Amino acid sequence: MASEAIAQVLAGSPAERVLDRTLRDHRHLSREQRQALKEAVYNVGLWRRRLGFLLGREDATPPFLLYALLHGLSGVPAAEAATLAGLGAGPPPVLNPGEPPTLALRASLPDWLADHFARELGPEADAFCAHLNVPGPITLRANPLRTSREALAQRLLTEGVTTRPGPWSPLALHVEGPRPNLYGLPSLREGLFEVQDEGSQLLGLLVEARPGETVLDLCAGAGGKTLLLGAELKDAGRLMAYDPDPERLDRLLQRSSRAGLTHVQVLRKPPEPGLDADRVLVDAPCSELGSLRRGPDLRFRASPDVLAHFPPLQQDILQHAGDLVRPGGRLVYATCTVNRAENEDLVTAFLAARPEFHLVRPGAGWLAPACVRDGFLFVTPHRHGTDAFFAAVMERSAG
Ligand SMILES: C[S@@+](CC[C@H](N)C(=O)[O-])C[C@H]1O[C@@H](n2cnc3c(N)ncnc32)[C@H](O)[C@@H]1O
Repeated sequence: MASEAIAQVLAGSPAERVLDRTLRDHRHLSREQRQALKEAVYNVGLWRRRLGFLLGREDATPPFLLYALLHGLSGVPAAEAATLAGLGAGPPPVLNPGEPPTLALRASLPDWLADHFARELGPEADAFCAHLNVPGPITLRANPLRTSREALAQRLLTEGVTTRPGPWSPLALHVEGPRPNLYGLPSLREGLFEVQDEGSQLLGLLVEARPGETVLDLCAGAGGKTLLLGAELKDAGRLMAYDPDPERLDRLLQRSSRAGLTHVQVLRKPPEPGLDADRVLVDAPCSELGSLRRGPDLRFRASPDVLAHFPPLQQDILQHAGDLVRPGGRLVYATCTVNRAENEDLVTAFLAARPEFHLVRPGAGWLAPACVRDGFLFVTPHRHGTDAFFAAVMERSAG
C-alpha cells in the first residue's frame, strides 16, 4: 500500500491528496500505521533524489527508495529496513557512502532549481535549501481587533496550546509541541487569530495602514493580508479588496465577518485608475519558490518555465497599481518567491518607468534590520525561520 501511494507521488500526484485518499481507503489502520504511512510517503516524496544517489540510480522503485530512506537516512539496520520496505529475499543493496557531490542531490531538488538557488543566493544556497527540507512552524497571527498577542497566548494555554512569540512580527505566535487541531478551537471560531506565516504577516504590516485611510488590497486572494489591513485600520476607513478569482473573494468575505471586519468592500471588477488610494498592496501572483517547505513534492511539480512566466503579468499589475495610488501615497509590492526577475529587477524596471515613485526603507522604526537586504524586505527560512518573502515599499511623490 505504501509503495503504491509513493509511486503515485513520484508520478506527480500531489502528496497530500494521495495520502488522504489512501487513508480513506484503509480505515482499519492503527494510529501508528497511519503515521508510518504518512512519513513514508512524505519522506520518499521529498528525499527522492538523495535516495536515488544512495542507491546509485535515479529510477529506483518505491520499495528500494523506502529501503534507502529507512537504512540510509534513518539508520534502521539493513535487514530490518529491507523487511519493512518489502524487498524480496536476497541481500539488500549496498548504499553509496559519503555526501552527495551536488547541491541538487544533497537537498533533493531538481537540478534547474538547485542551480537557480545557487545563482540567487550564492554561498547561502546550501543553508537555504537545507531549510526547505524542514517543515515550517505553525504560526498564528493575533487579531488586534479582538485581542492582544499576550492575551491570545493566555487564552490558547487554557485551550491546551502552548505558544511562544515570534521574533519579527509583533502579532506572531509560534505553536510549540505537537500539532494541535486548531480548527477545533473556540478561540479560532471567535476570530481571535488567523494561521499565517510570520513573513506573510510582515508584508501586511509594511503597508502601515492607519485608521481613516483608503486602502486597496489589489491581489487579495482569500484575504490573508486583507484581514490584517482591516485590523490596522481598526475597521475605520475604506478597505477595498480585488482579485480576479471570485471564489477566493467569497472566502475573504466569510473570513472577514469572523474577524470582526464590517467594512471590507469586495471589488468584483478591477478598480479604475484615479482611485486615489492612500495605500495599495500588490501581493503579486508569483512562482512561489519561497514556500517550497510547505509540501514535500512542490519542487518536483514546478517547471523551469515558472522562472520567466510571471514578470510580464507582475509588471502589468504593478503599473495598474501605480495608477491607483494618490500623490504622497504608498505602494507595497510583495512576492513569496526567491527570483530577482520577479523581485528586485521588476521593481527597478517599474521605478525607471514611473519616476514619480521612489523606494523607501521598509518598516522604518519597527522592522528589524535583519529583515532588510539592499533596501527591500527579504526574509528566508534559514535566516528568519519564515517562508521566503520579498517586498518593496514605494511612495508616490506628493507634487
Ligand atoms: C499571492 S496570491 C494572494 C494571496 C493573498 N493576498 C493572501 O494573503 O492570502 C496572488 C493573487 O493574485 C491574484 N491575481 C492574478 N492575476 C491578477 C491580476 N491581474 N490582478 C490582480 N490580482 C491577480 C490571484 O488570483 C491570487 O489570488
